Amino acid sequence: MATPDRALVRWCLIATAAGASAALSPPMSAMAMTGPGMMGGMVESPPGPMDSMMGSMWALMSWMNGADLDGTPSSPEPPIEPALLAVGQRSYSAHCAACHGEKGDGKGLQAGRLSPRPRDFTTGVYELRSTPTGSLPTDQDLFETISRGIHGTAMVPWIALPEHERWALVAWLESFSKRFAEEPPGPAVVVPSAPPETPALVERGRVLYQRMSCASCHGISGRGDGPSAATLQDQAGRPAHPTDLTQGRFERGSGMADIFLTLRTGMDGSPMPAWGTALSPDETWALAAYVRRLLSRPQPGPAMGCPMMTGSADRQEQAGMMIDMPGMPMGGMRMNP
Ligand code: HEC
Ligand code: HEC
Repeated sequence: MATPDRALVRWCLIATAAGASAALSPPMSAMAMTGPGMMGGMVESPPGPMDSMMGSMWALMSWMNGADLDGTPSSPEPPIEPALLAVGQRSYSAHCAACHGEKGDGKGLQAGRLSPRPRDFTTGVYELRSTPTGSLPTDQDLFETISRGIHGTAMVPWIALPEHERWALVAWLESFSKRFAEEPPGPAVVVPSAPPETPALVERGRVLYQRMSCASCHGISGRGDGPSAATLQDQAGRPAHPTDLTQGRFERGSGMADIFLTLRTGMDGSPMPAWGTALSPDETWALAAYVRRLLSRPQPGPAMGCPMMTGSADRQEQAGMMIDMPGMPMGGMRMNP
């Protein structure tokens, strides 16, 4: 067996090569990459090629460089049957239990070394929803989270798993909380089309940022250092840190529509509140535009380099990658044949 360092280097070389050839081959170059991920650019996953090892590696590399992935499913959700649940259970044990625990309680063997901790699925409380605060996510929300990963955390994108298996995982995750059997998901929040990010809109957002006390948690300059920042806790009673809005790598994503949904639906289980319709769509867009203006650093986007070697990947993201891929390359993350 190779030493971890060698394995890492090998993995990086393969990944870099995968990235290069992915970018050169016609189906891959057809992918829409609208600039750096942090400015709303997304790595679209065309059906087919993205299911290939090359495509998955390339998407993963881009993610580690800070890009947001598009997790929209290309296949309809399969009916929930025992066979599907069995696939979900097997896949969960193989890929998720190390962190989320065999029983879905967030107490996997690796959980203690991660911050934030892996989600406890038994509560049915999810941060990333298209549904109003307090309600369950939709199946598609979960599918998208699994596919897109969560920036700044050890939850990497599981884009390498076939879509059918990701749907099976959704069904299995839902079986951990009886809420899913008892309640329907909330009605999905409608996201109107985003307005242009004009200076006037940004200025309106700046005023709202102060009026809505965003600064009390996120700080005047958005660095996550507001006066209440040190006192915040998540629902499990652990310290919760307001996101440094100047750094990017948002959990949901940093496109206009992503931030719109974050403000509308909040991040349940964390102190990030939901404003729902207390803010008009125009006001919500203005805040989103202002938050995007706060992203001060040059934001990395889809790139060819090896993030583990250049150090551009977030620490938690790297930790997740190492846990998920113990054997390198792609040890834990099974690729399609
Ligand atoms: C290396 C550890 C790790 C592995 C392996 C892992 N996760 Fe996670 N996962 C996390 C962490 C950490 C979070 C919490 C992120 C946060 O608080 O924002 C999380 C959060 C989630 C969420 C919750 C998102 C929300 O809206 O609150 C879902 C769903 C999820 N994981 C599904 C999975 C599935 C399915 C797998 C297996 C295919 C998996 N995870 C594997 C670490 C992991
Ligand atoms: C009570 C404290 C608090 C207030 C007030 C607050 N936030 Fe947050 N916010 C948080 C915390 C904590 C997080 C991190 C949640 C997490 O990652 O689990 C967060 C996360 C975010 C994120 C990142 C979302 C992502 O996808 O990672 C954005 C954007 C954001 N807040 C914008 C705002 C804006 C704009 C306002 C004012 C309208 C605001 N917040 C008010 C505590 C707060």
